[in-house]
Amino acid sequence: MAIKEILTVPNPVLKQVSRPVESVDDDTRVLMDDMLETMYAAPGIGLAAIQVGVPLRIIVMDLAGKDEEPAPRYFINPEILEDVEELLLWEEGCLSVPDYYEEVERPRRVKIRYLNYDGDEITEWAEELYAVCIQHEMDHLNGVLFIDHLSRLKRQRAIRKVQKAIRDKALEAAE
Ligand code: NI
Repeated sequence: MAIKEILTVPNPVLKQVSRPVESVDDDTRVLMDDMLETMYAAPGIGLAAIQVGVPLRIIVMDLAGKDEEPAPRYFINPEILEDVEELLLWEEGCLSVPDYYEEVERPRRVKIRYLNYDGDEITEWAEELYAVCIQHEMDHLNGVLFIDHLSRLKRQRAIRKVQKAIRDKALEAAE
């Protein structure tokens, strides 16, 4: 396994629409293993392939608590089949927008269909944090970031904050 570089805003690659995976094979699984390792190292709870520069419809996730056993989940070509009108307000963050958190409103429950690590088709309802996370990650597959759900002012503030943090880090390294 290998840790990959996570792209951050405003990298234009993050705006790309990812394409479906044609067949779930060992290459797909190597990529998912690397994505999971990258996500754990960050650390984060969800990661889409485009965040490591690969425009494929693949997501990894682990929603286990700090004291729980790791529970990795893998989603290939996920689709939302149904949602509910009831919305949930949740403070979101993103490895591509480091150290920035803001509340976003999304449906509280979504019915999803996807292929898992073995390429088996799964259909299930996701709710609460799982629903928030899968919708956030599926947005990435369509080139949408959680800050795109915010006002233009907040979005620009988030991008500036990330750019400044990267500049500061580069300056520190140069000293
Ligand atoms: Ni994200």
